[in-house]
Amino acid sequence: SSSPPSPSHSFSPPCTSHFICKKEDIVKAGRITKLVNGCRDVLVLYHHGKLHAMDMRCYHAGGVLEHGDIEEFNGRLCIVCPWHKYKITVEEGEGLYQAVDNPTVKPLKTYWRSKGVKQRIHKVTEVNGDVYVTLNDSSEAIESDTYQTEKFRTEILRA
Ligand code: FES
Repeated sequence: SSSPPSPSHSFSPPCTSHFICKKEDIVKAGRITKLVNGCRDVLVLYHHGKLHAMDMRCYHAGGVLEHGDIEEFNGRLCIVCPWHKYKITVEEGEGLYQAVDNPTVKPLKTYWRSKGVKQRIHKVTEVNGDVYVTLNDSSEAIESDTYQTEKFRTEILRA
C-alpha cells in the first residue's frame, strides 16, 4: 500500500547500537549493567528523566560503579565510586576533585577541578520504549579501558 509507515517503524536505531532493555525496566531499577557486544561491561543509568551510559568499572581501580551514589558537584552530575569515592561526571566521564587555592591561607578555600576524561562514556538512545547503547569506539585510550579486558573480566569472575 502507499500509506506511510507507522511512527513506530519510521526510525531504526543505528546498526552499531545494542539493545539493553525496555525503558520501563531501567526506570524501575534506576541502573542496569550489561555486557555489550560481547566485549564491554556497560552501566546504564536513569536519573531525573535522563539516560546515561558508561564503562561499568571505575577508572581508578575497577570499582563497581553500579553501586555508586549519584550526586551533583559544582553543578555537574556525577557518579561517586563506592570504593574510594572518586567523582565521575556522567555526561563526559571527567574525574572531578577538590583542590585547595592556597594551603597557607586559613580558612582553606577549595574549588573543583577536572582531571579530564577518565571514564569512557557511551551513547544511549531510546527508541519506542527500547533502550540502546552505541559503544564509544574512539581510538583514544581512556583510563577506564584498563578494566575492560578479557583478562580482567575472568580474574573478577574467578575472585
Ligand atoms: Fe573507584 Fe577507587 S576504584 S575510586
